[in-house]
Amino acid sequence: MSDTLRVAIVGMGIGRVQARGFIQHARSEVAALCDLDRARMQAVADEYQITPAFFTDYRELCRSPEIDAIYIGTPNQFHVPVGLEAVRNGKHVLMTKPLADALEPARTMVAEAEAAGVVNMMSLTGRFNPNTQYLGQLIARGELGRVYYARSRSVRRSGIPSWSPGFVMAGGGAWRDMGVHMLDAAWWLMGRPTPVSVTGVSGAEFGPRGQGYWEYAAPSESIREAFAADDYAGGFVRFAGGAGLQIESFWASHQLDEAAIDLFGTEAGARLDPFSAREGIEAIRILRTVDGAPCDTSVRMPRGPDTWERIAAHFTACILDGVACAAPLRHGLIVQQMLEALLLSAAEGAEVRLAAL
Ligand SMILES: NC(=O)c1ccc[n+]([C@@H]2O[C@H](COP(=O)([O-])OP(=O)(O)OC[C@H]3O[C@@H](n4cnc5c(N)ncnc54)[C@H](O)[C@@H]3O)[C@@H](O)[C@H]2O)c1
Repeated sequence: MSDTLRVAIVGMGIGRVQARGFIQHARSEVAALCDLDRARMQAVADEYQITPAFFTDYRELCRSPEIDAIYIGTPNQFHVPVGLEAVRNGKHVLMTKPLADALEPARTMVAEAEAAGVVNMMSLTGRFNPNTQYLGQLIARGELGRVYYARSRSVRRSGIPSWSPGFVMAGGGAWRDMGVHMLDAAWWLMGRPTPVSVTGVSGAEFGPRGQGYWEYAAPSESIREAFAADDYAGGFVRFAGGAGLQIESFWASHQLDEAAIDLFGTEAGARLDPFSAREGIEAIRILRTVDGAPCDTSVRMPRGPDTWERIAAHFTACILDGVACAAPLRHGLIVQQMLEALLLSAAEGAEVRLAAL
């Protein structure tokens, strides 16, 4: 392989943003784009002033000898079909969240990616956010002591993303959209304990009524009629060793907008915004008792590589330098197991026990 990683981007929605990370990184280039919509590819090429090859068929892309690695940013139900085609052709894969739209395809994807021996990584913007990474370093150093409880939530007042049918169909939903971020980032900060059971509730209280859509927009009648996904989910994950995680994801609600993770440690607690990217704002607060008095610290992150650049840089280093992957698809599989268990628990009205994967 040459010194520069040749990356293809599939899906020009979030793929447009991830492409910037690879373009800005000195050791990678965006050599190809793939989408069903040629105009969307042209718009991305024009925006970044690049001249990649265009593909409308991901199978053809996966066979191209001019590509080393593929970022998959299609709607949820196409992550695994594209991912399998990529690893079967020996391509390294970087997949957006969630890994799949159900547990079985996620399991197949991990088995085949690992057997193929390619670098296989989740693109997780909650986990790779500079705020989350910084707090993760503090926790690894023992600053919070043992983290025995957490709560994590993404609450929107009017934020159902109607632009992608994949989001409002079964297989999408608030839980697999934002819930996956909040679950992954909190689970990672807690040290990735083994989940043993999940209980939860979910439903669609706004979407089918034509309410709660992104920025209070009125959806088309067809979107409203096609709405089959959850627009909220909430629940609790119990881990081996006794730790617990309370988690919520609302696309729409009569509540204030919020994205936050609270960690409860034996030596200190922390509150994190895992998505804010603005420098200088208080992104992390550490809460301690020192000499009998509350003594809190606020962290304002300085300017530095953003989330997308960090993901691109890490994926590139895994391939070119053999660095151990910090977010393998196997992590995405465990998160998918928790995701699907909550929806099953909601459907059955009972706690779901998890088997070791
Ligand atoms: N922070 C994040 O990591 C983040 C943010 C937003 C979305 N996402 C994920 O990205 C995925 C897509 O969401 P979006 O908002 O970009 O949707 P989108 O609808 O805006 O874009 C999806 C694109 O994929 C293309 N596409 C669909 N099927 C395809 C196929 N078979 N081959 C090639 N291209 C195909 C569509 O034409 C479209 O341009 C979802 O899984 C979502 O969860 C991740």
